[in-house]
Amino acid sequence: MPLFFKISHLFLLLFVSTLSSSSSPFGYNHPLDSLTLSELTQVKTIVKKSYLLINVTFHYVGLNEPEKPLVLSWISINHPTKNPPREAIVITRIDQKTHEIIVDLSSDSILSDKIYDGHGYPMLTSQEQNVAEKLPFTYQPFISSIEKRGLRLKEVVCQSSTVGWYGEKRKSNRMIKLICYYLDGTVNLYMRPIEGITIVVGLDQMKIASYLDRLMVPVPKADGTDYIEPKPRARSNLQLDGKRIMQPDGPTFTLDGNTVRWADWKFHVDYDMRAGIIISLASIFDDDKGEFRSVLYRGFISEVFVPYMDLSEDWYDRTFFDAGEFGFGLSAVELQASKGCPENAKFLGYSIYQDGTPGKMPNVICIFERYAGDIMWRHTELAIPGEVIAKVKPAVSLVVRMVSTVGNYDYITDYEFKQSGSIKVTVGLTGMLEVRGSMYTHNDHITEEAYGTLVAENTLGAYHDHFLTFHLDLYVDGHENSFVKNNLKTSRVINKSSPRKRYWTVVSETAKTESDARIQLGSGALEMVAVNPNKKTNLGNKIGYYLIPGSATGPLLSDDDYPQIRGGFTKYNVWVTPYNKSEKWAGGLYTDQSHGDDTLAMWSLM
Ligand SMILES: *[C@@H]1O[C@H](CO)[C@@H](O)[C@H](O)[C@H]1NC(C)=O
Ligand SMILES: *[C@@H]1O[C@H](CO)[C@@H](O)[C@H](O)[C@H]1NC(C)=O
Ligand SMILES: *[C@@H]1O[C@H](CO)[C@@H](O)[C@H](O)[C@H]1NC(C)=O
Repeated sequence: MPLFFKISHLFLLLFVSTLSSSSSPFGYNHPLDSLTLSELTQVKTIVKKSYLLINVTFHYVGLNEPEKPLVLSWISINHPTKNPPREAIVITRIDQKTHEIIVDLSSDSILSDKIYDGHGYPMLTSQEQNVAEKLPFTYQPFISSIEKRGLRLKEVVCQSSTVGWYGEKRKSNRMIKLICYYLDGTVNLYMRPIEGITIVVGLDQMKIASYLDRLMVPVPKADGTDYIEPKPRARSNLQLDGKRIMQPDGPTFTLDGNTVRWADWKFHVDYDMRAGIIISLASIFDDDKGEFRSVLYRGFISEVFVPYMDLSEDWYDRTFFDAGEFGFGLSAVELQASKGCPENAKFLGYSIYQDGTPGKMPNVICIFERYAGDIMWRHTELAIPGEVIAKVKPAVSLVVRMVSTVGNYDYITDYEFKQSGSIKVTVGLTGMLEVRGSMYTHNDHITEEAYGTLVAENTLGAYHDHFLTFHLDLYVDGHENSFVKNNLKTSRVINKSSPRKRYWTVVSETAKTESDARIQLGSGALEMVAVNPNKKTNLGNKIGYYLIPGSATGPLLSDDDYPQIRGGFTKYNVWVTPYNKSEKWAGGLYTDQSHGDDTLAMWSLM
């Protein structure tokens, strides 16, 4: 039962087979392991062999995961010599067409090769972005624009920006816009946008397709924008540095391939160039039953929708899909102990298709135990005469972290496994604001709609959202699950049976259709539970996991606004759909310039 969640500013908590892992003769250990370096190389060779002398660009290469029943039976049989088929899904551009290719690695062959002709394009490659970002520097009109502004070309840096879709009927080519910034005395280029220049690059021709220099707006000053090693301003800052985490006996989790065991938890952790972290087959050991009980079959970030609210000419189209357009995994950065992960962290590297070739992504995920003096459970008993009983259990958890730097923003994704059996998912947002250069130097001068807040002289921080949507395929204590809404309903005391006037009670409702399970949070007192309807506790209660949202919001745009059509999956905070392996990406498989016809909002039935 996949559950899609959407949250803004962001976090949700969610809370329910067994898995065994052993080394195999196949070079990978587990049917859900992402492709190894040699498998990626094999993919490249197989695809290139069938397109000799033709340029092929690889936009996405990932594991075509086996169907869920196959994986579950592999686990229960515990027989590594009978591994499910090992396949890759490859999205390429060949001769200006998008191909969706399934490669069978065991037979070294292409199983299918389909041309996708619908709306939208695959993820951008980092290579093509890098090439495009250099084009303006040999383009005379751009050189003149920079000179006209009194700026020095060698201090200019350009960055790719996707263009979205605004109702055009005609299918447009693959293209991006470039947004240019000025360094000259700072490394914080995002604070120094060069406004008024529109550069459209046709990606298939790799040429500047249109260029416009409209207006001159001052480039914000470099002063005060530096962020590298800021000088401590006060004694207290000095004292805050240098905190250390000691774990003299080493970590208490173990890694067997990609399978992590910690406390009662067991789960598989992997990496995908689009989704980033993928947690699979999370299960928790039940001491009473002497067995692992399943919780989460597969969980990952499905989409990250970031629409800006600035309608000015160079800004209205900044409506990004950070996973589907730029790749949340592709944008991940190398992590280091004591720089983003604590000193007791262990680091995992994976293989990835990047810059036109298979390579390694070292230290892209870190895993560490967290203990910060918090309390998991406590009680002080004072009611017993002559006795004070105080019992405390400290909260220790295990965190799996990745940091994706998508342009100016850095997303810190944490999956935190707790001893209580819950999994807390947090996405922290840091980095730089995306700002617009402006005439204004003081708030009192602003008389028109500014679409943001003046954050420094000549610098407007634009209003925008970050909607993070998670795909959570829960299998709580077994494969068959239902989604239950526990509505907290108030009733009036109708006779004099009680001195009270009102009370509330729980009215449970099992979702029968997909539309029953669409939820806009905040519209009533509601608990959401994924239960296994076939199992009960010894007391006869349902067995399930609560989905505990953080502060969730919804979109404020109307259904007919083009970005909102593409991001229609944000309309509800929770959607529940039946298992379908190909319905992974809430914004559709081809998100760049999508028209919203392949989103979760379209798959979900009334
Ligand atoms: C392949 O790409 C190279 C470099 O981008 C280019 O020079 C060449 O003309 C391309 N070949 C074909 C057949 O398109
Ligand atoms: C009063 O109402 C309660 C429930 O609201 C009910 O159980 C009870 O029987 C009622 N008593 C009388 C006297 O009607
Ligand atoms: C799975 O999803 C795809 C894409 O939405 C759809 O085309 C296909 O019919 C679905 N398969 C099943 C069995 O529902």
